[in-house]
Amino acid sequence: MIAFFDSGLGGLSVWKTYYQQVPQQSMLYFADQKYIPYGSKTKEELIDRAIKITDFLISKGATIIVVACNTATAAVIKPLREKYSIPFVGMEPAIKPAAISSQTKSIGVLATEGTFSGELFQQTKEKFTKGINVIVQPGYGMVELVEEGLMRTPKAKELLEPLVHPMLKENVDHIVLGCTHYPFLKDDLQEIVGEKVQLIDPSPAVVKQINRLLPDPLLNKEAKYQFYTSSPNVVSFQAGVEKLIGKNIKVDYQSFDL
Ligand code: DGL
Repeated sequence: MIAFFDSGLGGLSVWKTYYQQVPQQSMLYFADQKYIPYGSKTKEELIDRAIKITDFLISKGATIIVVACNTATAAVIKPLREKYSIPFVGMEPAIKPAAISSQTKSIGVLATEGTFSGELFQQTKEKFTKGINVIVQPGYGMVELVEEGLMRTPKAKELLEPLVHPMLKENVDHIVLGCTHYPFLKDDLQEIVGEKVQLIDPSPAVVKQINRLLPDPLLNKEAKYQFYTSSPNVVSFQAGVEKLIGKNIKVDYQSFDL
């Protein structure tokens, strides 16, 4: 059984990419909405949440866990791999592909403050961006927009414009979406930055890694999708999920405070 977790709905950008390829695989998803946002939490707080969630997911049958959150990956992937014997897949900041294909030698990265201050981001940046101008910008308010389902609204446009304008001034031709919530704002962003700027969603690369670790998934015509939230409000969780993955996928929703 494969399981995904995130602070909220963002990890669904990875879940959905995997589902589109392997819909017959039963899956678990845990949204830690009672403790969102992760972006401003300390490493210790994130490790504590990740251990509680991992124990819960394993008790529900998880045999591989996708940390579908850049912020959590940066803080917890190492301790999780040390503590548990099951495989974990983490998010990679997609700086390398952006830097390699940049013609203008200028790229932008949107992520949470937690991701920017983590070792993983610093190391990847140092390794792959020699001679490249990298404009980093914390995506203030973007997680909340997605959690509230405010994609394609004037409010989204108003919030996003000032975040990406400094990047456009620096002539970036790629912007890395370094938080799993952000791909859900891709259309809003594309409208602002224009067709010449490529927005990079890392989820296809992460799904490739899942497929490498799980080459023979247990396919089942009756595959079940169990979605949990740590928030008591299952109704709003369900509404939020349906807005992002559509109403046609039959999902079982439950609240579980850990
Ligand atoms: N979805 C998240 C990420 O990929 C975390 C957002 C947050 O809770 O701050 O970083």
